[in-house]
Amino acid sequence: MRKTSLTLTFLVFILVICHAQKFEGLAYTPPMGWNSWNTFKTNINEQLVKDIVDKIVEEGLKDAGYEYVVLDDGWMAKERDANGNLIADPIKFPNGMKALADYIHSKGLKFGLYNCAGSKTCAGYPGSRGYEYQDAKSYASWDVDYLKYDWCNTDKLNAEGAYVTMRDALYNAGRPIVFSICEWGDNQPWKWGEKIGHLWRVTGDIINCWDCEVGHGTWSSWGIWKIINMRKQIRKASGPDHWNDFDMMEVGNGMTAAEDRSHFAMWSMLASPLIMGNDLRDMANETIKTLTNKEVISVNQDKLGVQGFRFTNQNNFEIWLKPLEADSWAMTFINMSDKEEVLDFDFKKHHLGDDLNGLRIDLKNNVYKIRDLFKHAEIGDTNQKLKTTIGSHDVLMVKLHKIKS
Ligand code: GLA
Repeated sequence: MRKTSLTLTFLVFILVICHAQKFEGLAYTPPMGWNSWNTFKTNINEQLVKDIVDKIVEEGLKDAGYEYVVLDDGWMAKERDANGNLIADPIKFPNGMKALADYIHSKGLKFGLYNCAGSKTCAGYPGSRGYEYQDAKSYASWDVDYLKYDWCNTDKLNAEGAYVTMRDALYNAGRPIVFSICEWGDNQPWKWGEKIGHLWRVTGDIINCWDCEVGHGTWSSWGIWKIINMRKQIRKASGPDHWNDFDMMEVGNGMTAAEDRSHFAMWSMLASPLIMGNDLRDMANETIKTLTNKEVISVNQDKLGVQGFRFTNQNNFEIWLKPLEADSWAMTFINMSDKEEVLDFDFKKHHLGDDLNGLRIDLKNNVYKIRDLFKHAEIGDTNQKLKTTIGSHDVLMVKLHKIKS
């Protein structure tokens, strides 16, 4: 009798392991939320997070679609407990993670945590290597909804294998958790990530500048345009439930309002997760306006789920296209120069379309209306030239929608 039940348990175990997979359907559109790292590094605590959560609701960010509140590195105690369990830092989070999750859930938001595939996290806290199944159970028991899983101190670990292990551990723990792969693009996760995670970072860490590189010895942080230009051939890997992640945003972290608008427009064109990285307790009105711009967000969240692409460069302008549902298109013109420039764009002179997806803007047989997504106004149609002045590093982002066939 005992032998039969043991065999049965073993068979169920094997069945679970064999069927381990990612939790499908948790990120049909790019995840939106807030992450503590860009502004606070490891200086996080319960009151700060609660205040941020309250602001997400009060400032209309929740209403705009932001959902996940993610604690990055530094939420844990420096050591595991006597049973090898991860524990929250008792000073920073005196009521532990479950109480914080309850608070976040009570506001209609979702809760994310960070850990690392290596023996220690990047900031030196206990990593998950060798504890994957145990840690996944802790997250499930705390009602975690999102896990960002980093890549420091991984020694000779194989990246794909390590992320499969954590995916399976999460699946085994039974609570649907968005799995955010963060190995900086070092092992080309766009080639293997689709069946494992819901998003994967494509570069090293972002920093709050337009186009700079800041070296830290063995690694660098990258400005907005360095990140955009770093991965040119990966857009086809991105799509519903498996996104290229261009890193947490730096909107509101010190660039000009124009640069913030362009950064936000580009993350939307790229269908990147929109994870805010600023101090939501202290935002300029311009920052709130940018982050809650629902027309721009709807480009990011468009159900077609196609990552946009650079169509061309004209004079000082970067010109990007993103096909949207219902034969609509988003188009973005960014003034890269350090002075105001005149944009003069004749739709009729261009063969507009997305070759990779076989989609065309047929201007011979159709006319498209043009809507300015920052001014929230119709500004003409594709029969006319688009002529306007755009400030340095600022953006004109429009939606083209068909009016005549
Ligand atoms: C890495 C990640 C960052 C952040 C830090 C935390 O650098 O890429 O996004 O999570 O670790 O230490």
